[in-house]
Amino acid sequence: MPQKNANMPQSKLNVDLTDSFEKIPVKIYSNTKQGSHFVAQEIAKLIRDKQKNNENCILGLATGSTPITLYAELVRMHKEEGLSFKNVITFNLDEYYPLQRKALQSYWSFMHRHLFNHIDINTSNIHIPNGELSKEEIKKQCLQYEQEIEALGGIDLQILGIGNNGHIGFNEPGSSIFSKTRLVSLDNSTRIANAYEFQNISQVPRMAVTMGISTILKAKRILLMAWGMKAPIIAKSVEGHVTEQIPASILQQHNDCTFVIDENAASELTRIKSPWLTGECEWTPIMIKRAVVNTALKLNKPILSLTTHDYNENGLGDLLVEKGEAYEINLQVYYMLRDSITGWPGGKPNAIIPAHPERSLPHPKRCLIFSPHPDDDIISMGGTFMRLHDQGNDVHVAYQTSGNIAVTDEFVTRFLDFAVGFEEQFGIDNHKSKDILTKSRNYLASKKVNEVDTDEIRSIKGLIRRCEAKATCRYVGLKEHNCHFLNLPFYETGTVEKNPMSEKDILITMELLNKLKPQQIFCAGDLADPHGTHKVCLDIVFESLNRLKKSGAEWIKDCWVWLYKGAWQEWDIADIEMAIPMSPDQVMKKRFGIFIHQSQKDMVPFQGSDSREFWQRAEDRNTNTANLYAVLGLTKYAAMEAFVRWHY
Ligand code: F6R
Repeated sequence: MPQKNANMPQSKLNVDLTDSFEKIPVKIYSNTKQGSHFVAQEIAKLIRDKQKNNENCILGLATGSTPITLYAELVRMHKEEGLSFKNVITFNLDEYYPLQRKALQSYWSFMHRHLFNHIDINTSNIHIPNGELSKEEIKKQCLQYEQEIEALGGIDLQILGIGNNGHIGFNEPGSSIFSKTRLVSLDNSTRIANAYEFQNISQVPRMAVTMGISTILKAKRILLMAWGMKAPIIAKSVEGHVTEQIPASILQQHNDCTFVIDENAASELTRIKSPWLTGECEWTPIMIKRAVVNTALKLNKPILSLTTHDYNENGLGDLLVEKGEAYEINLQVYYMLRDSITGWPGGKPNAIIPAHPERSLPHPKRCLIFSPHPDDDIISMGGTFMRLHDQGNDVHVAYQTSGNIAVTDEFVTRFLDFAVGFEEQFGIDNHKSKDILTKSRNYLASKKVNEVDTDEIRSIKGLIRRCEAKATCRYVGLKEHNCHFLNLPFYETGTVEKNPMSEKDILITMELLNKLKPQQIFCAGDLADPHGTHKVCLDIVFESLNRLKKSGAEWIKDCWVWLYKGAWQEWDIADIEMAIPMSPDQVMKKRFGIFIHQSQKDMVPFQGSDSREFWQRAEDRNTNTANLYAVLGLTKYAAMEAFVRWHY
């Protein structure tokens, strides 16, 4: 049975205020690697302690993108530090149902790929629910799973991830606190979120076998890990009420559970988001901006209408004591917001505007837009892209990856058919293209679900996307030699899982940077996307810039870097340092630019958890930013793109 949480403050009088918001201990690390390192150390210590006493160590393990770096670290410890797993017995949380064990996407395959194949664990000590059994057999298996755990004296340490809907294991919202290992039906949101592991949503199994919540709560110690975009659900689980609608919140009732998260996943916790509510805080200009903007949005009031009463009622009394009258603070924040808006993303030539986000000189600037996929430039900063070009800057785009896995097979035959027809029409020998078409058709007709494409098919898919990117650049007005296709090797695995960045990726990027010597760079700043392509692309640019800086490259002193967000999210309104307004016509022009990416319209593989098309996401997001500025009392534009400056 769940125990009462010993960490819950018994009396509000003798606890610090952070605790009254956070009902589960939370350890925040600056990145995934450091957080995973901590958890790996805890596991290793437990294994070694048990070894000393000649005891088995019973571990509960999770899958998904979250624990990948943890498993990599455990493998490293085994190989380099001699950590042995001979006394370890594992129980995995869950498995898709129905699914063959040997399928690429099964959690059985995942665990072997990331951990078991690389350590000295005894295979008979590995327990993973079996997704191959009949429904009748499953019931027996579930009962046996519980009994086996109990017979071994229970799980010593349970590792958990968390779903965006708060699930732990595959205990979806609504799962009972008393639930045990069982067959469950997956939430549609989970199937959509996990579709990235499969070719598309229809191939994600509808059910899973999972340990229950009561099974998890019986573990002696629990470490839940979360990185990146999990911030909203982390805040709800840690600070909200205990509810079966957010299964992870039930962990508040465990007496030895810790959340190990990175800074991005912590960003919605009150102590990070609104530190003025949890105790003393240093009132830097950005902190003042955050506090005032959040309060204005909460009250749905323009900044300049906030009163002393509003400040006091919303935990900002200290700010008044330290910085003076509400009216003065309102003005300070209003000016910060006003000065972030500019129609001149490359700087306004011949104008001296002191608080303008960009330098007016040099003009024109050489601008380099890094686009992780072939359509991120137009989706995420299409309006700015067009303005930069129209205002006379020398704009270059570096397409970092081929984006080939997101093209459907149908597109391949359609374009090959065109190539064959084209050659025939103009009297060009089409034997070779006919041959490629026939071969591709045959291959695709017998291609198994989730099978990795041949190099030839992948190169055709990459070419389709390359042509779309070139067409967009033409549409904006760029010359062909201003488009650079980097085809970074880390991306070319043919599967959803990508390789980490390599030396080759960095060298390719450094070469382009050195050739162009840009004065302004734009990159997709998806800092909260720990395993995605965007984050790797960003790390490659940062690493390249840092190396060039260290090497003493002169041009770099005069190069500013701006970050845009990818297709999924926008910057927090208080953090935006440059906002580029768009007129209704510009919104339409951007929309048509996105339409050029026909292979990405409608049924895109790996669409993610958002069913809206990319142009809709972009428009909703840009309109929302404009609306937020208007709510805060600034001019209402049709849409706005937003950027944050990166100092390196
Ligand atoms: C998988 C599991 C799930 C995941 C959760 C988060 O074994 O238990 O609860 O931890 O779906 O998945 P990722 O880590 O992919 O975000």
